[in-house]
Amino acid sequence: ERNVELEPCRNKGRIVVLVPLPLQGHMTPMLQLGTILYSKGFTIVVAHSEFRPPNPLNHPEFIFQPLSDNLSGYDAFFMNLLNLISDINAKCRAPLEKYIVQLMQDQKLQHGNEVACIIYDGLLHFVDSVATCVKIPSIVLRPSPAICMHSYHHILQLHAQNLIPFPESRLEEPVPELHPLRFKDLPYPITCEIPERLLDFLASSIDIRSSLAIIWNMADILEHPALSALQQHYKVPFFPIGPFHKMAAATSTSFLEEDRSCIAWLDKQASNSVLYISLGSIACVDEKEMSETAWGLANSGIPFLWVVRSDSVNEKQHWHFPEGFKALVGERGLIVKWAPQKEVLAHRAVGGFWSHCGWNSTFESICEGVPMICRPHFGDQLINARYLTYVWKVGLNIENVLDRESMETTIRRLMLGIEGKEMRKRMLDIKEKLEAGMLKGGSAYESLNDLTEFITSFLA
Ligand code: UDX
Repeated sequence: ERNVELEPCRNKGRIVVLVPLPLQGHMTPMLQLGTILYSKGFTIVVAHSEFRPPNPLNHPEFIFQPLSDNLSGYDAFFMNLLNLISDINAKCRAPLEKYIVQLMQDQKLQHGNEVACIIYDGLLHFVDSVATCVKIPSIVLRPSPAICMHSYHHILQLHAQNLIPFPESRLEEPVPELHPLRFKDLPYPITCEIPERLLDFLASSIDIRSSLAIIWNMADILEHPALSALQQHYKVPFFPIGPFHKMAAATSTSFLEEDRSCIAWLDKQASNSVLYISLGSIACVDEKEMSETAWGLANSGIPFLWVVRSDSVNEKQHWHFPEGFKALVGERGLIVKWAPQKEVLAHRAVGGFWSHCGWNSTFESICEGVPMICRPHFGDQLINARYLTYVWKVGLNIENVLDRESMETTIRRLMLGIEGKEMRKRMLDIKEKLEAGMLKGGSAYESLNDLTEFITSFLA
């Protein structure tokens, strides 16, 4: 019989240092992982960039340590993000090393506590070099699916074989060994030369260096084949312990303030009647797509809750809601700058989710049994959309140019049609399987116990 659940107190004084990337879709799963490990008795230290820090008030149980970084002026545009990631890797190395050395000395002297390991976002490779220097084990956190890592390998292979630029005419073909992906689903465009910076980014993000394991915000039942194939390659233990947000007690992890007025509005709506629209924290669209979205929503006749961030429309554009839109929609639509998304998706009134398919949003929607309209922008979003529409069959895709007519039709298909009903049923089946995985004997539950033992063994 397996040796399940460790006594939380057994880990008291064992410190786990978390190093998150200050982007919403990465910060959230790292803090959730902290909450999960805290519940297993570990002391949690979050060593974070000064730039976009997490809010310590939301996690009084953690110790927060800012790393001075002299970073500022970054926005959400993609190439800018590559600069941000590379700057953090360069500038946070020395402060992290200094802090860990100090922490190890202080803890030993004062409490007999010890640093068990450092867990870092897979894009922050500097952490592994610090961990090696101070001789502390390190573990990588991957906040997106395993197939995404496979696809990075594949893009680099295509590049090495001189197959990029890849012909446009072959984009619909399946990628060998990456079923069910087509070339067009690969996370970055391959029909033009890939900038050196992006190649470096891909190479660096698939390299786990001397890290001893990978933790996934993923459930084995969702992508068992991809996880096992990847495990053959990396040869370190994998811990797929997702969905994190269901394994951890709910706490806000948002950088932006959540507008909770939408919950009272949802309370007044009929069950499964509302379409929720959000493109996560980074994706943005041009003025035309934004206006078409507004008209598509207005013309669909469906109640909607729409998240429009202050930077939802591309740089240097000043977008205003089209004239007549708000009058036409009236009480039927609510627009907020940032929503308490997990609560929104769990609300009985929400019947569909129009999403950019970031992994957190995708997982949150699956966990609440809410079918989706998929409008991926970049990176793993394309892969997630392929899985949602083709493998799990719980989402409708809009692959071409978005106009108000196609939008209206798609919304009505999802919210009113038989297809939408069937998708909701399939979503609920997956939700049940995920819930079973979190119970004693289930895969996430067991994997979490294995992870706890693994970390504990470093100090045995
Ligand atoms: C990014 C990438 O785009 C994504 O593909 C990758 O998997 C993780 O990093 P992001 O684009 O922000 O993240 O999307 P997503 O992964 O969906 O994360 C967004 C998070 O913000 C979710 O946890 C969601 O609940 C939250 N959110 C979003 C809110 O709390 N309120 C909102 O109004 C919108």
